[in-house]
Amino acid sequence: MLNNLRIDGGRLWQSLTALARIGATPRGGCCRLALSDEDKAARDLFVSWCRRACCDISVDRLGNIFARRAGRNPDLPPVATGSHLDTQPHGGKFDGAYGVLAGLEVIRTLNDHDIETEAPLEVVVWTNEEGARFAPSMIASGVFAGSYEEDFALACADVDGHTMGEELERIGYAGSEPCGGRIFDAFFEAHIEQGPILEREQKVIGAVTGVQGLRWYDVSVRGQDAHSGSTPMPGRRNALVGAAEMVSAIDALAFESAPDAVATVGQLDVSPNSRNTIPGGVFFTVDLRHPRSEAITEMEDRFRVLFSLIAERRGLESSVEQIAHTPPVMFDPGCVDAVRQASKALGYPSRDILSGAGHDACHLSKVTPTGMIFVPCAGGLSHNEEESAEASDLAAGCNVLLHAVLARAG
Ligand code: GLV
Ligand code: MN
Ligand code: MN
Repeated sequence: MLNNLRIDGGRLWQSLTALARIGATPRGGCCRLALSDEDKAARDLFVSWCRRACCDISVDRLGNIFARRAGRNPDLPPVATGSHLDTQPHGGKFDGAYGVLAGLEVIRTLNDHDIETEAPLEVVVWTNEEGARFAPSMIASGVFAGSYEEDFALACADVDGHTMGEELERIGYAGSEPCGGRIFDAFFEAHIEQGPILEREQKVIGAVTGVQGLRWYDVSVRGQDAHSGSTPMPGRRNALVGAAEMVSAIDALAFESAPDAVATVGQLDVSPNSRNTIPGGVFFTVDLRHPRSEAITEMEDRFRVLFSLIAERRGLESSVEQIAHTPPVMFDPGCVDAVRQASKALGYPSRDILSGAGHDACHLSKVTPTGMIFVPCAGGLSHNEEESAEASDLAAGCNVLLHAVLARAG
């Protein structure tokens, strides 16, 4: 009987659509930066839905939300699933939200059919996965798994100096429970792929075997402010021209190791940012990823040398600070297999896949058996307002989640 159990794809789609109204952007996406008013509204809606689905809610000091559906045996560790509700500034409707609402849809489906699992289930919302407002990304799942200290995370500030701790208090999600005390039987995260592979190969499900490594750096370049009209070209110490060369150099470096390596400069601040002053200061970020740690180390060594040479040649000073590091992750073979088996039993074309994007599941895998389920997204496009996915694929991923969770929870 359980083999024939399916989630309600229409209800999942409606929930995604309702959630996407919070922070909706003109081009069809979402802007719900972590711990903003929009993030609060999305959390409140999720919590109200979970309460209606008879879940108990707990919130930890980092604002992670745990919605628990009781099991027959309250002493068993829960099978957990979830993702994040925060988005990029120009984010889409599915990155994160899908994994959270797929978890809720699993619970609603079990409620519809009066099915009691042996172990409890929990749907988790992890705080600040994106890292767009507070760096580093995946910070609250990182604290949960012991990768970062709670105090470090609470003190992380946005560009206006507001800390995570202050913003959690302000929006009413600074919980009382310490972050990280919970034991899970397993953690599954459903997510859109955010890349082109499943769509290209016409697969519906990706059984995610692991996630490539990621390092973030803050770079600052210092030259000298000077008048744009009266300062001759020779002898200028233009930090922006130096930074531009550095940006090109790191792009070229990643191209040399394509397709495995990727490097991105996504944020750049110019000082004093005035039309008629030669820029004396630039701050920019580097996001470097590769499936192998040694390859990232090698690229890091090379770009540090290149940046120094560029700075020296242009009479600038530069410094590079590594601010985040997530090593490559391999997921639990049992959880990966549960995803493969569920896809097969449900008749969905699937393949194994390595994640290019980071996920809260990376940190979770340090403390609990973890797996992920990918579904295709149109053109592989994500971190874009036009991010889109087919309702039938989202439903398929949620069905796989349902059966993978049931296989663990009994
Ligand atoms: C999360 O979106 C990431 O940076 O991979
Ligand atoms: Mn995500
Ligand atoms: Mn994202």
